Amino acid sequence: MVTLNYKHVDAQIIGKEHGLNVEKEFDNHKGDIERIIKDLNQRKDKQGQWLQWMNLGYNEETVWYVKEYAAQVKGKYENILVLGIGGSALGGIAVTEALLKPYWNLLSPEQRNGMPRIFFLDNIDPDQITGLLDMLDLRKTLVNVITKSGSTAETMSQYMIVKARLEQQLGDAYRNNIVATTDQKTGILRQLADQEGYKTFVVPDDVGGRFSVFSAVGLLPFALVGIDIEDMMNGVKDMDLELKNTDIHNNIAAQNALIHYLMDTKKDKNLSVMMPYSSRLKYVSDWYTQLWAESLGKEENLKGKKVHIGPTPIKALGATDQHSQIQLYNEGPNNKLINFIRVEEFDKTLEIPKIFEYTGIGYLGGKTINQLINAEADSTRVALSDYKRPTVTISIPKITPYNVAQLLYMFEVQTAIAGELYNINTFNQPGVEQAKNYTYALMGRAGYEESAKVLEEKMAVI
Ligand code: PA5
Repeated sequence: MVTLNYKHVDAQIIGKEHGLNVEKEFDNHKGDIERIIKDLNQRKDKQGQWLQWMNLGYNEETVWYVKEYAAQVKGKYENILVLGIGGSALGGIAVTEALLKPYWNLLSPEQRNGMPRIFFLDNIDPDQITGLLDMLDLRKTLVNVITKSGSTAETMSQYMIVKARLEQQLGDAYRNNIVATTDQKTGILRQLADQEGYKTFVVPDDVGGRFSVFSAVGLLPFALVGIDIEDMMNGVKDMDLELKNTDIHNNIAAQNALIHYLMDTKKDKNLSVMMPYSSRLKYVSDWYTQLWAESLGKEENLKGKKVHIGPTPIKALGATDQHSQIQLYNEGPNNKLINFIRVEEFDKTLEIPKIFEYTGIGYLGGKTINQLINAEADSTRVALSDYKRPTVTISIPKITPYNVAQLLYMFEVQTAIAGELYNINTFNQPGVEQAKNYTYALMGRAGYEESAKVLEEKMAVI
């Protein structure tokens, strides 16, 4: 089970000025948390609440269809190429980086147990795209284009480039090499996929991109490279049951949400650092950054009052960033809450040879790298405490599909509870739309002529 240790946010350890009286705060907010958890669970099945992600762990049908398709195409492709951006890519990247063997794409087919390599294109850098497409044999590549709206310019332009190349190389049969994950009914990609006859998977209604990792958005790429998605779903279900507990003393998502909220609103700790001590979990920080930023950074609260709130997430990696960011975290402004993620048991144990015994590095010999990385996590936490900097530590027993799924689902629930505490709409992103519309206007999309005019005027001034 994933666990949370919040001792190092307590005033007893880091002092009254920066610390919380955690138990007292839990008692004070017991009623609020109980109401929020009950409310989320009651609203989750109602249309338009954007809470269907809370049901994804129980969606056996999707798991079945995904597994069936993965079995059908097994052995047919050397590569999986995922096209998507934001919530349509970040979960996929985080989970495959965590659960596939390190350096997966550089391993031989035997080392990958015959499973394909996997590439994500989540940007529109012409050099990167050209480089990747020149390197991949598209005839041996299954392309999974993922977009809920079906119209995101970045993803759709990649799709158009890849489709044209595939068709050039494969003729009519190119269709077999594309699988689309999109809305069931609406959007341009849905229309095209039906027209062209692609295999499709659905992004369910009322599941936003950043909460979609346990829908076909994530499950399909995971199954295609051999990740045990049933085990992942078991992790989500078990965590979901834990997090249905309305008592804050027994609900780690509620605890971390409340700690973050109080640290922001009472102690001016507006920055939330995510720092796993594991390279395999490095991209969990990217996924968390989007989840936290897009969900909680809002102009208005639910009453329509201008509030301009939201903690800023920051990505860091232990131990690497001890040599980059920790100086600032220890001695700079005391405005951060740092989330450590600690892995209790790594897959491999790596011993440091007993050499150079009579030198200054002799003490390392005979220890393991495993001991070293966790000693560094512990010592950095204690050093931060000495400087009166708050930290929480999330522990994951081992990097397995079950545990990684638990970790991500815990963060999703934590985000939803934090959104309720801030009294904002966690599930919209109006701040993203404006720039999207301007891009459509700049690129000449029909219906955006007015925006194009406004934009021209604004750009002329600048
Ligand atoms: O979380 C979100 O809603 C966004 O980050 C979207 O996932 C992102 O904008 C991509 O949208 P779409 O899946 O419609 O292409």
